[in-house]
Amino acid sequence: MNEKDKLFLCNRAWASEKLGQDPEYFSDLAKDQSPAYLWIGCSDSRVPANEIIGAQPGELFVHRNIANLVVHTDLNLLSVLEYAVTHLKVKHIILCGHTGCGGVKAAMTHSNFDLLNKWLRNLKDVYYHHQHEVNAIEDETEKVNKMVEINVIEQVNNLIKTSVVQRAWQNRQYPIIHGWVYEMETGLLKSVVEKDHTSEIEDIYRFTDL
Ligand code: CO
Repeated sequence: MNEKDKLFLCNRAWASEKLGQDPEYFSDLAKDQSPAYLWIGCSDSRVPANEIIGAQPGELFVHRNIANLVVHTDLNLLSVLEYAVTHLKVKHIILCGHTGCGGVKAAMTHSNFDLLNKWLRNLKDVYYHHQHEVNAIEDETEKVNKMVEINVIEQVNNLIKTSVVQRAWQNRQYPIIHGWVYEMETGLLKSVVEKDHTSEIEDIYRFTDL
């Protein structure tokens, strides 16, 4: 059996299992979605958003990219954010990094990754601004994981700099933004930072005419 056939076989088995539990499962799901969570995570194949928090189809709106970045010129991320926050009215945004992130590791080297340099540059800037804190750690693995944590904090900060989040905070006091790190070695999540509508926004990033 080739790889594609195997995927289709697994899909059929999964679909019939779901139907076995509830004959209306797919027809109900097909009607609409109202997820409570937006997940922004890394594309890494070892960090499957739904699985690690036991979320079922319909519960999680998902955006994943290399190293879970929130880049203010990324039309893809911003569209997902706007749709999730303004239209789906999610109550929570989870920004989740993970230990041993390959994107973070790559950004901490001098290697040239051509097109990827443009993306990794966002991480290099985070590293640059926190280099004293990061470089104070000797162990290479610990160093990367410190950067993973700092990156989560910075990306949560990037989220609250958007008019989308600020307007939602003003209008409906949601979403709550959760910054987490998924520990690859244990399968466990750790909370790093949390921001809500009462959180302070650095003055120059605060919009007053929402
Ligand atoms: Co990663």
